[in-house]
Amino acid sequence: MAKGLPNYGDPGFSLFLRKAFIKGAGYTDDALDRTVVGIVDTGSGFNPCHGNAAQLVEAVKRGVLLAGGLPVEFPTISLHESFSNPTSMYLRNLMSMDTEEMIKALPLDAVVLIGGCDKTVPAQLMGAASAGIPAIQLVTGSMLTGGYRGRRVGACTDCRAYWGSYRGGEIDDAEITEVNSRLVGSVGTCSVMGTASTMACVSEAMGIALPGSATPPAVTADRARVAEETGRRAVGLAAEGLTIDRILTEDAFENALRVLLALGGSTNGIVHLAAIAGRLGFDIDLDTFDALSRETPVLVNLKPAGSHYMEDLHRAGGVPRLLNELRDQLNLDALTVTGRTLGEELDERREDFPQDVIRTRDNPVYASGGIAVLRGNLAPGGAIVKQAAASPELLEHRGRAVVFENSADLARRIDDDDLDVTADDVLVLKNIGPVGAPGMPEAGYIPIPKKLARAGVKDMVRISDGRMSGTAAGTIVLHVSPEAAVGGPLKHVRTGDMVRLSISERRLDVEIPPEELRRREQADTSGTTAAVEPPERGYARLFVEQVTQAEHGCDFRFLRAREQRGSVPRAR
Ligand code: FES
Ligand code: MG
Repeated sequence: MAKGLPNYGDPGFSLFLRKAFIKGAGYTDDALDRTVVGIVDTGSGFNPCHGNAAQLVEAVKRGVLLAGGLPVEFPTISLHESFSNPTSMYLRNLMSMDTEEMIKALPLDAVVLIGGCDKTVPAQLMGAASAGIPAIQLVTGSMLTGGYRGRRVGACTDCRAYWGSYRGGEIDDAEITEVNSRLVGSVGTCSVMGTASTMACVSEAMGIALPGSATPPAVTADRARVAEETGRRAVGLAAEGLTIDRILTEDAFENALRVLLALGGSTNGIVHLAAIAGRLGFDIDLDTFDALSRETPVLVNLKPAGSHYMEDLHRAGGVPRLLNELRDQLNLDALTVTGRTLGEELDERREDFPQDVIRTRDNPVYASGGIAVLRGNLAPGGAIVKQAAASPELLEHRGRAVVFENSADLARRIDDDDLDVTADDVLVLKNIGPVGAPGMPEAGYIPIPKKLARAGVKDMVRISDGRMSGTAAGTIVLHVSPEAAVGGPLKHVRTGDMVRLSISERRLDVEIPPEELRRREQADTSGTTAAVEPPERGYARLFVEQVTQAEHGCDFRFLRAREQRGSVPRAR
């Protein structure tokens, strides 16, 4: 217990004091002389996605003890998607700061990061990357699926489908109330390939979590065993001094981006990976990422892009089987937390039995990557679309913009029977970007106007500077950059302008002549059109002043690495 002594001017006295205090908890000198593994506990009564945190902490401790170390758990803040007003993304960077500073403050030789809900794994990896000590991720695992009237259901792709049916008048109040109790089968993270599952799988692919650790459901014996193994391994990480920067390298980030595409993973994954990479000095090159997308088919057949759930992915062989399928497209020399390379780990995990969840490259779920990057006069800084979850007939589309200035404007008018809108129009929502909302809420999943939903319209082209949940589907263009609130072109689009989306050409344009666009920019004296007044104080003010655009991960400028080391994926 020598690292990071508080500076009382006398290191001997500092250590003496530290030991005196911790001995108040009953520790012996023998215990305190061992390798100290910190365990980040993100359990909270408001976080059912981490509802098994206490059991996992116990299992990790067992592993640490078995390996001869001393486990000590400590809390950080806990973020659940539905209990993080105004949006969990607003709090992700705060959690990363909490994680980083606590890791630095405490006398730890290694740290086990336990978390799972969407923003948690990114926040923990961002914080740990900046803290720079040996670290290993342990996800809480997915929830079990539920059942409703003989159908298997899960959060939260099915939540959206049922809500859509309710809005369209296909099911009534009683049924929607009944289904509400059936969607979530247990504690754990969302059961589809949403952001939590995406980040779990991507963490394993990056080598920062143990092989096979991403997919065991939260309440299973497999999950507890993985936790024990994780604790055991953390002691080894400390002994070897295997710090996180040696795992999260360019090789690892390239593997992560590749796997994000093959998963048909959440669009949020790209924002989070940009933020994690930024902590280590790497930018994500969206155009090279798009090139990867063209050669990486979606292989994982999970909702929302496919049809299965996380527990099925686990039974089918989990991430190792997917990685073996992608072997020749991965950097197999990347070092993992096991101390061995990804290739060495995969050699031991070759499985071959029939199943339909992890497809082969010659029989993919979707022929190219799940996410495409768009450029054009509407998105000079880029925009993305989850093409694998879009409607084929809308991939090339030209339509009249129907513009909503912000979320409040949308809420006011979207269900108005007098709204001038047809199914061929393009719904445009401004001011839900990183600064605009603020926090870039998942409001990009713009609902189909009620009168069109009632007429059976299921999808329309929708465009915003916000995000959407990884569990959602539709022809939805997101992360338009620069956002409206910082004066991006999106700000100047008006109802009636023609918008053209071409996913094959990777274009997103508004058909306004350049001189007209300039005229609108010059005529605009409003400064910001953000939905809220610029905050006066506190974290809100820090957020708005420091948050970066989506392509830089929405991290705070002062948290990114000071030294730029390059871009990933590297040009090939
Ligand atoms: Fe926590 Fe979906 S709400 S993972
Ligand atoms: Mg989500």
